[in-house]
Amino acid sequence: RFIRKESLAYFEHLMKKAIQVKVQDCRPRNDFLLTMVNITKSGNKFLTKDDILANCINIFLEAYSTLSDSMSFTLYLIATHPDVQDKLFIEIKTLFPDDFSFADISKLPYLSMVFHESLRMFPPFTTFNRICNQGVTIRGSRFTRLVQVTVPLSAMHRDPDVWSDPDIFDPKKFSPKN
Ligand code: HEM
Repeated sequence: RFIRKESLAYFEHLMKKAIQVKVQDCRPRNDFLLTMVNITKSGNKFLTKDDILANCINIFLEAYSTLSDSMSFTLYLIATHPDVQDKLFIEIKTLFPDDFSFADISKLPYLSMVFHESLRMFPPFTTFNRICNQGVTIRGSRFTRLVQVTVPLSAMHRDPDVWSDPDIFDPKKFSPKN
């Protein structure tokens, strides 16, 4: 079992309520949950209620833990590197002296470098897996069909053959020049 029984019951309750609200909504939004509900309603037997629940939990965990982990680590790194904090402050004040909107956040190149460097040092996903659907040889290594390959993101992100000073937080690693 991946999560505790009580947590599963909590998510089940949350999902049922969300579906209830969606079904009663007079201006329904065509989102992922509603799409899944409509698929089951249309009589499709391949998507069960448990599948919908599993997808809801997956998206909740993917969205929540990744964002909270990455934002916490980024804020921690900014707080412990006052020089970076000063540069960020100057960038924001220079580009948006009065106010800025949500869309403007993507127009801050130094902030983007800081966030990428934070994701490099502390990736919310430390590994991910793939199953070979056919045999393949990559750089002399043979992977047979159905073998599971784990991609060690954390190790790659700290590989000294790839990064100079991999354990040092330095947003310059993601400057356009580099
Ligand atoms: C900094 C934030 C995030 C990072 C670093 C991140 C990273 C990743 C990675 C590496 C995967 C691939 C996992 C794999 O293929 O094994 C993934 C998948 C996924 N992510 Fe994110 N993610 C982030 C934010 C989000 C958010 C905000 C959402 C939803 C609102 C989300 C929804 C998903 C979903 C649904 C998948 C599964 C896709 C699939 O299996 O086809 N992620 N994410």
